Amino acid sequence: MKRIEDLKVQDIRWLNSNSYVLNLSGSDAIQDIRPGNFAEIRVDNHPDVFLRRPFSYLDHDIKEKTVSFFIKAIGKGTKKLGTLEKGETVNIIHPLGNAFTIPESKKVLITGGGSGIAPFIMLGRELKAKGNEVHILTGGRTAEDILFTEEFREYGEVFCTTEDGSIGEKGLLTQHSIFSGKAFNYDMIYTCGPDGMMKAVASIAKARSIACEASLENLMACGFGVCLCCIQETTEGNKCVCTEGPVFNINELKW
Ligand SMILES: Cc1cc2nc3c(=O)[nH]c(=O)nc-3n(C[C@H](O)[C@H](O)[C@H](O)COP(=O)(O)OP(=O)(O)OC[C@H]3O[C@@H](n4cnc5c(N)ncnc54)[C@H](O)[C@@H]3O)c2cc1C
Ligand code: FES
Repeated sequence: MKRIEDLKVQDIRWLNSNSYVLNLSGSDAIQDIRPGNFAEIRVDNHPDVFLRRPFSYLDHDIKEKTVSFFIKAIGKGTKKLGTLEKGETVNIIHPLGNAFTIPESKKVLITGGGSGIAPFIMLGRELKAKGNEVHILTGGRTAEDILFTEEFREYGEVFCTTEDGSIGEKGLLTQHSIFSGKAFNYDMIYTCGPDGMMKAVASIAKARSIACEASLENLMACGFGVCLCCIQETTEGNKCVCTEGPVFNINELKW
């Protein structure tokens, strides 16, 4: 069930020069959160930020009633949220959107870049719990962008690429040797990140007839199907990413 809640900032943990984890406590909506869902966070005390900002959940803890978000500080709202202090109140609407499909006992590949890695800790945990063999591939510009490796390792085998070669294989995510090796026999691929990366992953999945789901990060305003600013063209007509996504089967997308 969707709720509007006032949560308390537990802490903000900066991971590198431009991204941080925001930990919030006091949520009663935790048990309804599924991997792939997102929240709309209100940015208070900024003269130019009127609309809430959407973020996927990084994680949640039902017992502790906490939720966390991995946020890249790219603009006015995300930079302002990064200045919150312990004990301050944050108003959020959540959980929103649909969730990833969780198969059982399959071999699956998770691919993520940029802030698109956020939903994959919860997804990896749930996939492992259902007996899936999980591989996680993340890509970034430099080693600084390769995050949550230890957390991902709890749920599967982890691989990475960086454009400068400072960690993992050098190149773009879709240039990783995983895509050309003999072991590229996945039943399902998940992707979230920059559009170009997701489209490249989707085209590999399509060429190999592998099921694939992409979590889209279209611009949003209301977050619950009213403003129509998040529309995505699909084979079944225009759909709202906030209510009918953010997770789409790639065969639905006109990519
Ligand atoms: C379903 C969903 C889940 C998301 N999950 C995460 C997450 O877990 N972590 C995270 O860091 N970000 C996530 N995003 C993206 C995040 O919502 C935007 O980065 C944020 O709204 C930007 O707000 P701002 O005020 O800082 O930027 P603004 O000052 O409004 O804009 C700064 C620049 O960023 C661009 N921009 C704004 N929104 C987006 C967007 N959605 N995608 C690409 N470019 C954008 C603007 O066009 C502008 O160029 C998600 C988006 C969606 C739709
Ligand atoms: S963000 Fe308003 S309809 Fe989707």
